[in-house]
Amino acid sequence: MAGIITIDAPPRPASLASPKDRRTGMGTTLPKKGTEWGKLKGDMEARGAHDVKWREGKTAVYVFNAGPEVAEVQKEAYTMFMSENGLGPMAFPSLKQMEDEVVSMGLGLLHGPEGAAGNITSGGTDSITMAVKTARDYARKVKGVKGTCNIVAPWSAHPAFDKAAKMMEIEMRRVPCAGLLADVAAMEKAADANTIMIVGSAPCFPYGLIDPIGELGAMAGRRGLWLHVDACVGGYIAPFVRMNGGDVPPFDFEVPGVMSMSADLHKYGYCAKGASTVLFRSEELRAHMIFDCADWPGGRMVTPTLAGTRPGGAIAAAWAVMNFLGEEGYRAKHRQVTDARETIEAGVAKLGFRVLGRPQLGILAFTHDEFDPFAIWGKLFERGWFTSLTTEPKGLHLMLSPFHNAVTATYLADLEWALGEVKAGNEGKKREARYS
Ligand SMILES: Cc1ncc(COP(=O)(O)O)c(C=O)c1O
Repeated sequence: MAGIITIDAPPRPASLASPKDRRTGMGTTLPKKGTEWGKLKGDMEARGAHDVKWREGKTAVYVFNAGPEVAEVQKEAYTMFMSENGLGPMAFPSLKQMEDEVVSMGLGLLHGPEGAAGNITSGGTDSITMAVKTARDYARKVKGVKGTCNIVAPWSAHPAFDKAAKMMEIEMRRVPCAGLLADVAAMEKAADANTIMIVGSAPCFPYGLIDPIGELGAMAGRRGLWLHVDACVGGYIAPFVRMNGGDVPPFDFEVPGVMSMSADLHKYGYCAKGASTVLFRSEELRAHMIFDCADWPGGRMVTPTLAGTRPGGAIAAAWAVMNFLGEEGYRAKHRQVTDARETIEAGVAKLGFRVLGRPQLGILAFTHDEFDPFAIWGKLFERGWFTSLTTEPKGLHLMLSPFHNAVTATYLADLEWALGEVKAGNEGKKREARYS
């Protein structure tokens, strides 16, 4: 497509290149003979050399860099329990205990009331899918909802809700935002007797802004609706930003109408990838998530989440990182994130950009009223930056990690250069606004 950067796949190391298709890897067949690990490791390093330079702090999406000490804890804890399987709590009581402790720590941070419950899942999409399934089963069994169910969500909510809705044949009703936030009155109008869930984000991914969860909760209470707060991004940063004195409004189980939450450990919890929490106001609600099947010859199978096999490494690494950092560690790491965000906010404003809304956590998006943000993105990409974009309005997007606090000056200098290039007409290529 004209004007859109396509990022070429890296050349494949000669030893592994397939004659059929050297670019994509399709056509590769299992080698007849094995290759020694040292050689394979070298090949893998060569492949990684073509990836984004996140270790230099030049990536502000996909990766959360809390520094080498946290990475070491993730790695060691992960490998210690890499072969163990969370599917078998009787065989691995260690994992069950670690999962329960992680969930309990999460509920403690997010004002889970007495009797609140939850599980570790593989990620945000998994947590959201399980929450939707739970809300649907609750609506059918407890409220007697029949026929096609629907979810009412703000335009800014993550597509994971659409994915879950598609899988479960649920109608997705996205409602335009008001001032970039969930429009509570419009969402109330969109809800009906078959609404199994209304959604608020804390924060939403595109703008990094926290929806008016208190108002959504009041509306949910009035209408008897299930409010899910998607805190995949904010769940493990917002409580600490609040402790650090940040002006974060109530967004979790503190708000009475909140029935469930998704909060990712592998984002601002700085845990290894493959770890999120799905949390419920009560065990009675969580009970609708559980899958229980004895109708096969292998013995009764009871699983809390979508997964069968559950990687012990991800559970163990989450437990280890949370205990390694503790409240003090998280507060310090998150202080670096909000410091970086504030520095960048001030810097981009000086350059004539307009920050979207009033971000409070680690994501910010900003636009330029005269020059095309996508073209500016293209110039930044030339300097090794890989970040995200927003489409409405067109903007540049950053999801910051503690490590970014050390590179704010470089980013702002490169942004100034990129803007100058675009102003001078040296636009280069633009990027398609793709999230993945
Ligand atoms: C607000 C929000 N919810 C859900 C998700 C989905 O999380 P995951 O990519 O872990 O499935 C994301 C991912 O960025 C997100 O930003």
